[in-house]
Amino acid sequence: MSYLSATEELYRDAALIPDVGLCCTTNPVWELPGLKIPKIMQEMNYGCGSTVHARDLTNSPRILYVGVGGGMELLQFSYFSRQQSGVVGVDVVPEMLEASRKNFKIAEEQNDWFHSDFIELHQGDALNLPVEDNSIDVAAQNCLFNIFKEEDLKKAIEEMYRVLKPHGRLVMSDPTCEQEMNQTLREDDRLRALCLSGSLPIDQYIKALTDVGFGTIEVRARKPYRILDPKHYPTDELIYIESIEVAAIKDPMPEDGPCIFTGKAAIYYGEDRQFDDGKGHVLLQNQPLAICDKTAQALSDLNRDDIFISDSTYHYDGGGCC
Ligand SMILES: C[S@@+](CC[C@H](N)C(=O)[O-])C[C@H]1O[C@@H](n2cnc3c(N)ncnc32)[C@H](O)[C@@H]1O
Repeated sequence: MSYLSATEELYRDAALIPDVGLCCTTNPVWELPGLKIPKIMQEMNYGCGSTVHARDLTNSPRILYVGVGGGMELLQFSYFSRQQSGVVGVDVVPEMLEASRKNFKIAEEQNDWFHSDFIELHQGDALNLPVEDNSIDVAAQNCLFNIFKEEDLKKAIEEMYRVLKPHGRLVMSDPTCEQEMNQTLREDDRLRALCLSGSLPIDQYIKALTDVGFGTIEVRARKPYRILDPKHYPTDELIYIESIEVAAIKDPMPEDGPCIFTGKAAIYYGEDRQFDDGKGHVLLQNQPLAICDKTAQALSDLNRDDIFISDSTYHYDGGGCC
């Protein structure tokens, strides 16, 4: 059996009987005025962060969600896109689609603004999306792409890029790991499907996105996720896994490479009112300016003693250069 079939089997089971604690993180399940998340959706929350950010969701965007799980994030997305088929959900496992369909009916009873037809469900594969080119404003996936091996991950990202409109955004949450994982862990289909042994270091995860052409990347959150310890897993050392929330924006690739925001800022503390680098970055005296890593490097290369560059917070939430 291939690791993809093993993944489908695992999520078929998780569709039939909710597996509380599969994935799951420190994120609170947020509810907004008038938005109630049914208990069954919370029990079937198989994500590792949030992909629903209000600032991505102005002007009733057309949203694609790949790997639907119990449907919680699709309901949250449809709060911002209250129109027939405003959210398109794709999942390869028919039982998961059926479970989410039932959960949307329960959500209808608890949310008077919500209609199940706000969400259009399709059986389909992340590696071959049943969606037209350039038709989506916001695409999302939560805790699916980390399962894919290198070639499949590339294909899955290419598919998301294909279906997004220019300047559309792909919003994601996935586990990441900065430590080397041994081959036994990497090749364990079940651990991979459980989102425990497929994760990449953050730099490699971002490179997979920029290699496909996304010109802007935002790392929005970075959180503790899981430990793989030698008593419970085939490893000699303790392995620490984190989860990140990332947006990849289909902006044209700048000639000097992608703009990757990891939460750095520059602060000018010289004698003038401001410092202008002549490339569009004006630093007002003692005011932070959010900058991408490329600009951080360029400012740092100036070797000035009146510009401070902060470390990455991995909590970028908009604004700044580029
Ligand atoms: C870890 S769960 C995440 C579910 C949901 N995103 C959430 O946050 O609760 C992975 C989801 O992806 C689906 N899935 C697995 N392989 C897939 C594939 N190749 N294409 C599309 N969906 C897939 C599973 O059925 C499951 O719903």
